[in-house]
Amino acid sequence: MTIAHRTVKLNDGKLIPALGWGNASSGLLGGGQKSVDTAKLAIASGITHIDTAQLYDTESETGQAVRESGAQGKVWVTTKLSHKEGIADASGVNAAALRKSVEGSLARLGAKPDLLLIHNIDVSAGHIAPLWTALEDLVLDGTLEGVSIGVSNYRPQDIEAVVAVARIVPAVNQFEFHPYTLAHTADLIALQKKHGIATEAYGPLGPLLQHPTGGPVKPVVERIAKARSIAPTDVLLLWVRSKGHVAISGSAKAENLKKLAALDTLEDLTAEEVAQIDEAGRKVHWRRYKDHHSRDFPAPDLPEDA
Ligand SMILES: NC(=O)c1ccc[n+]([C@@H]2O[C@H](COP(=O)([O-])OP(=O)(O)OC[C@H]3O[C@@H](n4cnc5c(N)ncnc54)[C@H](OP(=O)(O)O)[C@@H]3O)[C@@H](O)[C@H]2O)c1
Repeated sequence: MTIAHRTVKLNDGKLIPALGWGNASSGLLGGGQKSVDTAKLAIASGITHIDTAQLYDTESETGQAVRESGAQGKVWVTTKLSHKEGIADASGVNAAALRKSVEGSLARLGAKPDLLLIHNIDVSAGHIAPLWTALEDLVLDGTLEGVSIGVSNYRPQDIEAVVAVARIVPAVNQFEFHPYTLAHTADLIALQKKHGIATEAYGPLGPLLQHPTGGPVKPVVERIAKARSIAPTDVLLLWVRSKGHVAISGSAKAENLKKLAALDTLEDLTAEEVAQIDEAGRKVHWRRYKDHHSRDFPAPDLPEDA
């Protein structure tokens, strides 16, 4: 079956597939043949958007899988730059190191990505604005011509710092988003909307798969899933879609990959169903990736379970 995939329009006019598959979940971190094979299986299952990163060591595997699947130009590829190559530290931003790091990603992917993100803030220095300027320079000098650029795990103050100097406003901010981060990220998302910065939600299934009990969202999601004869995981991904965000999920299992790829065939949640999940989600603040998006980003005064 050919699926007409849903997209989200970015502020640079490009259409990003609304469901991405991460080449890092389910034991794929670190790369190797399993990463190539699973990425190929994901593409064969109908996935049209792959999320990789320098940090995951799956860039060359992603590029290889796309080429061997004959899917160049048909699959959206996102990669992310790490700070591990010393591009920004206490002494400032090293434009030459940034260029080398970007060129390394292009070489490993074997092609330009569709989207390139700064993976994390480096809180050791006030480099947020100069790092963005240095990345923009690589778009403007042609090195990253045609590549959308954005950020990941940026807090409101980081978005403000970037937007204050931006010649190219970030296309996206990718961070952990699900009902249990709804309260924490509400102001951030409002700020992004003001600047046309799309949200990419990673870890969207955490409330069902990683939260110790599932919390108040689980029974609501299970009831909606049962009524619609779909999986509870589908309900959470549809909830992300209802917000107009891009969901970045993952799987190494053929059955779940098919389910992810078929999400776009499922009907939207009703406004009432979305409101029920929102209400349950706002009772809790819980994150799976506890080291991201937490420093100097005060969390709401909510329990981790309710
Ligand atoms: N920017 C960042 O700092 C950052 C941080 C974290 C993640 N990410 C990106 O986001 C991607 C997704 O993150 P995540 O793994 O936390 O996402 P997630 O969507 O919350 O969880 C993915 C997990 O869900 C399981 N799954 C998928 N469909 C399922 C189904 N129908 N039933 C049961 N289990 C199902 C998969 O396991 P099975 O293999 O068993 O199906 C997979 O391990 C990563 O791969 C990475 O690309 C980015």
